[in-house]
Amino acid sequence: MLQTHIRTATCGQLRLSDINTTVTLCGWVQNVRDKGGLIWIDLRDRYGITQLIMNESDADKDVVLLARTLGREFVVKATGTVIERIAKNDKIPTGDIEVRLTALEVLNAAKIPPFLIQDETDGGEDLRMKYRYLDLRRNPVRRNLELRHRVMQETRLYMDGHGFLEVETPVLIKSTPEGARDFVVPSRMNPGEFYALPQSPQTFKQLLMVSGFDRYFQIVKCFRDEDLRADRQPEFTQIDCEMSFVTQDDILEVFEGLTKHIFKAVKGIDLPPFRRMTYADAMRLYGNDKPDLRFGMPFVELNDLTQGHGFGVMDEAELVVGINASGCANYTRKQIDELTDYVKRPQIGAKGLVWIRYQEDGTLKSSADKFWSAEHLAAIAARTEAKPGDLILILAGGAAKTRKALSELRLLVGAQLGLRPTDKFEVLWVLDFPLLEYGEEENRWFAMHHPFTSPKPEDLHLIESKDLGKVRANAYDLVINGVEIGGGSIRIHDRKVQEEMFGILGFSPEEARKQFGFLMEAFEYGAPPHGGIAFGFDRLCAMLGGQDSIRDFIAFPKNNSGRDMMIDSPSSISQAQLTELSLDVKLSKV
Ligand code: AMO
Repeated sequence: MLQTHIRTATCGQLRLSDINTTVTLCGWVQNVRDKGGLIWIDLRDRYGITQLIMNESDADKDVVLLARTLGREFVVKATGTVIERIAKNDKIPTGDIEVRLTALEVLNAAKIPPFLIQDETDGGEDLRMKYRYLDLRRNPVRRNLELRHRVMQETRLYMDGHGFLEVETPVLIKSTPEGARDFVVPSRMNPGEFYALPQSPQTFKQLLMVSGFDRYFQIVKCFRDEDLRADRQPEFTQIDCEMSFVTQDDILEVFEGLTKHIFKAVKGIDLPPFRRMTYADAMRLYGNDKPDLRFGMPFVELNDLTQGHGFGVMDEAELVVGINASGCANYTRKQIDELTDYVKRPQIGAKGLVWIRYQEDGTLKSSADKFWSAEHLAAIAARTEAKPGDLILILAGGAAKTRKALSELRLLVGAQLGLRPTDKFEVLWVLDFPLLEYGEEENRWFAMHHPFTSPKPEDLHLIESKDLGKVRANAYDLVINGVEIGGGSIRIHDRKVQEEMFGILGFSPEEARKQFGFLMEAFEYGAPPHGGIAFGFDRLCAMLGGQDSIRDFIAFPKNNSGRDMMIDSPSSISQAQLTELSLDVKLSKV
């Protein structure tokens, strides 16, 4: 099937059953060895590596001469006979055979690559990104993209099988607030005006529901101008979906099914029914709205047991909370100091760390021995369900900050104990997110998911009584191993409610109409109740591939400064282009 008019087989294909056949292979020279009249060439393509061999004494002289000029990564066409190898290589599927060369053609020479094209390369990140097309020749990166392809095909298969229509939505749109900044594109034909690239197709997919499409999906590029991290790219891909006439459970069922289908098809893993946890419980038990449930170590609140004993930091704290790092009583002073330094880093901001060691002899020893008696320590140990050999770690301070800090500490200790293996998957729906969160700096309310999310009907009275922080939404996230893979909600489909929501979010009626008039108008022409979800496709692929960073699951990613190192973008544009776009006047003022 992979035969062409130039080659008869691939470099991954030949076996003992092909012995004595004449074949023509094409590929890249991985390696040439020239020893005492014998020359071996490892020829590589996407499918594998095949060893070519020639013996100076009986091979064509020109072929031998040419073989001696080959360098790494030359592109060649090689013809010869398949023979059984004397020294077999059981590390590669073609290791039983080799091809005795009769003809060789250099299709293209190559400069010496700037890094080794091997599984373990000597190339640093910047170099690999600059020469990404060479990096993509390496097996680990190629395999990631093969995985991505598989996930994409399986997604389409499943969605199509469940009645979803794939509809493309525009890329040149206007701002859709999803919490990040927009990338904008100047319009030549409309001087001084800009398109925005979609942060997601949110409003369009809702409009498709108004159009009666009922079940929409799209594997779609989204663009967000935000600070980048290992799991964030400025352009990334979503599996984006929307459904009409559904409850939250309908959506969760379909996407639980999609996730299971993908895990089965790609990893051969049968996932058990997904756990569900409310946002409130996730924050209380793990200090995190995307808890990693590959291990336990839940938070235990300790205010009543730790306060009132003269330990100032504890006494003043809004929250005292601990975890039982099971089996860690043998942590050395140095290891504990490292944990303390970790939580005191400015990014985490804890004031200090208190520990209680449950020693093997049954006694308890603590950094707070001065303040807490043996009975107090025993009570804390009992509540945290500690046993001999365990180490209790305690943080204290403002509730939100302390939960966040302990969450980071829990993840660190979990990793140190090897409790976060990449081949174990714990999937969780986090439900009942708050509708709104308050921005202290901006002094206003923000939509926690996005402004189109509906409040839970049973919490509507809280909006009337202005208890906005307590209003919950029918909003949900899919979390795998502590990574937010997807999120969605049941939407507002009533113009009045949507107007009210924009009002709560600080939009004047004019601003709301200007930005979202089209959506609100659509709601007046028979908008069905609807809801949806979007999965981060790159994150899902990285998760399946057992990696934290999404970068190597994207063919041509950007670096942490949002640059494409290979094409050197972003870059300046010519004065003529600026003029044409009516941008020169404004830029020259900067
Ligand atoms: P949300 O903003 O939660 O929801 O995005 C959905 C999922 O997309 C992934 N994601 C990213 N992946 C890589 N790089 C990024 N910069 C990035 N930002 C987000 C995450 C996230 O869970 N329109 C709504 C969905 C809806 O309500 O239906 C939305 O975009 O995995």
